[in-house]
Amino acid sequence: MNIHPEFHRFLNRHDKETLLKQKGLAIWMCGLSGSGKSTIANAAERVLHQQGRFTIILDGDNLRTGLNTNLGFSDEDRLENIRRIAETAKILVENGIIVFISAITPRGELRDLTRGIVGERNLFEIYVKASYEACEKRDVKGLYAKASRGEIEHFTGKDGSFEPPSTPDLTIDTESLSVEEAAIDLLEAILPKINRP
Ligand code: ADX
Repeated sequence: MNIHPEFHRFLNRHDKETLLKQKGLAIWMCGLSGSGKSTIANAAERVLHQQGRFTIILDGDNLRTGLNTNLGFSDEDRLENIRRIAETAKILVENGIIVFISAITPRGELRDLTRGIVGERNLFEIYVKASYEACEKRDVKGLYAKASRGEIEHFTGKDGSFEPPSTPDLTIDTESLSVEEAAIDLLEAILPKINRP
């Protein structure tokens, strides 16, 4: 009520994409904590940056220190977390930016929400695949050890559910690929979507 959104006077997406010489795309990377989402996003972003492309990473952990600081890990809070990230990604993509999203996004319902907000044609969904056991072995942040001691509530893959996506655009298996190989696979897959004709 009493809100009057106005979009038509703004410079449009085409203007921004012409300036940036690229097409906007949301590269949504889901997978368990420690599966390698941020590491691969970081490696791929550096390559794109060197090629003169304008990119941004929206990282679940980082956003939880600011935009999403009031949210925890209940189903309800994860939904709100993902909704806010998706709305942010949408704004950026509509301004011609290549956006990497690194967030566990543990359930199909959440991924459907992102598709609805960002739009099918703007979204490239990547499942960064590694088993709970593999992530537990890496345990870069020490969270798996804490979770096994019962010190973290709703830990994804333990007492918090994780449903692997059924039809991702790309699956990257980080138990068998190096970071460099994973980044190459990602870049090859998205290239046709970010190049302007
Ligand atoms: S999501 O499920 O809502 O998509 P998000 O990617 O933002 O999660 O945050 C996940 C990060 O929060 C993990 O990488 C980890 O560092 C941290 N974390 C803290 N508590 C939990 C928990 N209970 N389950 C999963 N990750 C957690």
